[in-house]
Amino acid sequence: MVKVMLVGNGAREHAIAEALVNSGAELRAFMNKKNPAIARLSGGNFRIDSLENFEHATSFAAGCDFVVVGPEAPLVVGIANAFGSAGIPCVGPAIDAAQLEGSKIFTRTLLKNSKNPVNIEFATFTSMDGIPGFVDDLGMENVVVKPDGLTGGKGVKVFGEHMRSKGDIISYCEEIFHQGGRVVVEERLDGEEFTLQTFVDGRTILPTPLVQDHKRAYENDEGPNTGGMGSYSMQDHLMPFIPRSDVEFAIECMVKAIGALKQETGTAYKGFLYGQFMKTKKGVKLVEFNARFGDPEAMNVLPIMTTNFTDICQGIVDGSLHKMKAEFKEVATVVKYLVPNGYPEKPVTNSPIMVDEDGLRRIGARCYYASVNQKDDGAVVTSSSRTVGILGIAGTIERAEEIAEKGTALVSGDLYHRRDIGRKELLQKRIDHMKRLGV
Ligand code: AMP
Ligand code: GLY
Repeated sequence: MVKVMLVGNGAREHAIAEALVNSGAELRAFMNKKNPAIARLSGGNFRIDSLENFEHATSFAAGCDFVVVGPEAPLVVGIANAFGSAGIPCVGPAIDAAQLEGSKIFTRTLLKNSKNPVNIEFATFTSMDGIPGFVDDLGMENVVVKPDGLTGGKGVKVFGEHMRSKGDIISYCEEIFHQGGRVVVEERLDGEEFTLQTFVDGRTILPTPLVQDHKRAYENDEGPNTGGMGSYSMQDHLMPFIPRSDVEFAIECMVKAIGALKQETGTAYKGFLYGQFMKTKKGVKLVEFNARFGDPEAMNVLPIMTTNFTDICQGIVDGSLHKMKAEFKEVATVVKYLVPNGYPEKPVTNSPIMVDEDGLRRIGARCYYASVNQKDDGAVVTSSSRTVGILGIAGTIERAEEIAEKGTALVSGDLYHRRDIGRKELLQKRIDHMKRLGV
């Protein structure tokens, strides 16, 4: 039996753990908090520790065939290198390659130097020098400001949404510099976003079905940005507004990017690579890369995969993906995240939740535990981020949405969710947006 250690304890990792066990792996888990489902899937073979304690992580992984790393934070500080030094292969990029997520300056510059057509206009700054002029060049209404490092999806400010004047732009840049950061100012894109998650072995990229996430906290895409409140995928693995040719273009650009990365750093990218793209009037453009699966998007694709997931992970570390295919059921999926009341600004933490797992099974819904902690007495409590993802899978998106929505009623706690995710009205709004843009 293939022995695999998983690093991480959110819903993305729950989906990864389930896929590993269902495809025949013997699971060991290195977690920051006790995710009850991952603990169960590992048969009790888990350890609670800091995910950045590389010494403990490598010693707990001893004897494993390979390790799978779920979240980005340990990757950007080199956990894959630590496993490498201990002779344990890692599904998850080494520190140089993880810069594709860890540094927006690195990625935009790499794409520019390699003339990747998915890139957009941008400039990088270490002080205020040049910023007012560049903002004038772009036109202030076309400006997006990003701090350089990891921000959990919350550091990006877009003109018209979070900034309303040149003064707002300047003061946000100043705020980032005060905190010791570097700044990317880039072109504001208009269009619809899609997520393309892939398996990468250093050379070959195998895609998974397209997914669309919902960043805003409240229904009808209102409220503050979050890590993602829910997501859907369609039975044809595309989006209603994204044809196959766009996916092929996006994959070509990803292949080109990992080629340029290898040339620039000498490091081959091995792991999951997440491309966040936006289809605009000027074509498909890259919003960002992530060095991992998406959360919630992992829950849309891993549970419908028909290819053996453990074999794919082995293919990533062996560099043999060119001999493989990643295949998925032709079904639609909808994920709705239950999150603590007050999330994302003032989430209720340490509040008990109850999940009726039998009830969920009866209606055909699945649940994935995210930012929770199971205490010694067995009680599961909320932590500061998203709590439980509910997944519906069906032949149509309408049916998948109904299942997921019904499932949300089987979880009790001080929680809320977006009912509109996966519904016809919201999907139509996206289609109309693209029509209005003439895309
Ligand atoms: P990121 O952390 O780069 O994924 O950005 C978070 C969110 O900000 C994205 O999902 C987009 O909705 C938005 N965003 C980021 N970059 C841009 C851009 N250049 N134009 C428009 N929206 C953007
Ligand atoms: N759902 C967005 C992300 O995983 O980054």
